[in-house]
Formats: sequence, C-alpha cells, structure tokens
Amino acid sequence: MTLSLSSPATTAEFAAYYRLRYEVLRQPWGQPEGSERADDDRAPATVHAMATAPDGRVAGVARLSPAGPDQAQVRFMAVAPEWQGQGVGRQLLHYLEANARRGGIREVVLHAREAAVPFYARRGYALVAPSHTLFGRIPHFLMRKAL
Ligand SMILES: CC(C)(COP(=O)(O)OP(=O)(O)OC[C@H]1O[C@@H](n2cnc3c(N)ncnc32)[C@H](O)[C@@H]1OP(=O)(O)O)[C@@H](O)C(=O)NCCC(=O)NCCS
Repeated sequence: MTLSLSSPATTAEFAAYYRLRYEVLRQPWGQPEGSERADDDRAPATVHAMATAPDGRVAGVARLSPAGPDQAQVRFMAVAPEWQGQGVGRQLLHYLEANARRGGIREVVLHAREAAVPFYARRGYALVAPSHTLFGRIPHFLMRKAL
C-alpha cells in the first residue's frame, strides 16, 4: 500500500501525530498523556514526519532536531503495531535523512531502544555505546550515521 510522507501542519494532523507517539512509545509503559511531548518539539528547526495511509490513518511518526553545527538527532520514531515490518520505519528515516542532507547535516545520531538496534543497523547506523535506560526498563544505545 502506498503511504504518504509529510510533515504535520494542521492541529488535527499534530493531534494524530502525538496520539501515535503516545500509543507506541509511552502508553505501554503506563506513562501519562502529555509525556510524549518534548519542549523542543516546537522549535523552528525541528522537523516532524508522519506516514499516512490512503484511508487517512497515521502509520508512523518520527522527528529530527539539531544536535550540533552539522549534526542532527532522530527521536520519537514510532510505527503503529499493525504497520510494523512493512517498510514504514525505513520510509520515515529516509524522509528525515533527506531533509537533513538538504540542510547541510553531515551526521545523524540517535538513542535506539535495544529492540530497535537491528532496524537502525540495517539502515546504516553504527553502534557507538550503551546510553540511558528509559523508565528503568528499556536500555538504549547511542548510534550514528554519516550522511
Ligand atoms: C523499530 C521500528 C521503528 C521499525 O519500523 P518498521 O516500520 O517496523 O521497520 P521497517 O519495516 O521499515 O524495517 C526496515 C528494515 O529493518 C528491518 N527490521 C525492522 N525491525 C527489525 C528488528 N526488530 N530486528 C531486525 N531487523 C529489523 C526490516 O527487516 C527491514 O529490513 P530491509 O530493509 O532489509 O527490508 C518499529 O518497529 C517501531 O516503532 N517499534 C516500536 C517502537 C520503537 O521501538 N521505536 C524506536 C525507538 S528508538
């Protein structure tokens, strides 16, 4: 099925974007609504990406934000359970990396959940080092990719 990749723009699109981010990345760990939002989500340089199915449902979301003079960070990558394993994550990363290249970014970094490390490795990200543990339960690993 063909997905549409775009940046959310309207209030309704942002609501759907944050809902999926919450349902995939926060709700399963008993975190309250609102915990899926970050202060720098609204920064002008932050790029939000969403993959939308033809029926209008959001299949996946992710964001890219500045992390240094020529470095950016991918965060909050979330694909709806019924869409996982069908290339949505790959398309979201491609969308964000293309955006980063256009902006002169030379390196993308991210903190991957342990279960997602193989996904990022398939997309060319190298493991750098273990990083934080989220909610006391989810080990993360710093990864990076030169663009
Ligand atoms: C991790 C996640 C973003 C991957 O997105 P996805 O849409 O399911 O992955 P895709 O279908 O685009 O997979 C792309 C490639 O990675 C591989 N891949 C995906 N998940 C994998 C996994 N857990 N282990 C090994 N390979 C994996 C696929 O086989 C595919 O390989 P290919 O390019 O050779 O065809 C998604 O499963 C997800 O949201 N998981 C739950 C939340 C999460 O962990 N988010 C990441 C936080 S850092």
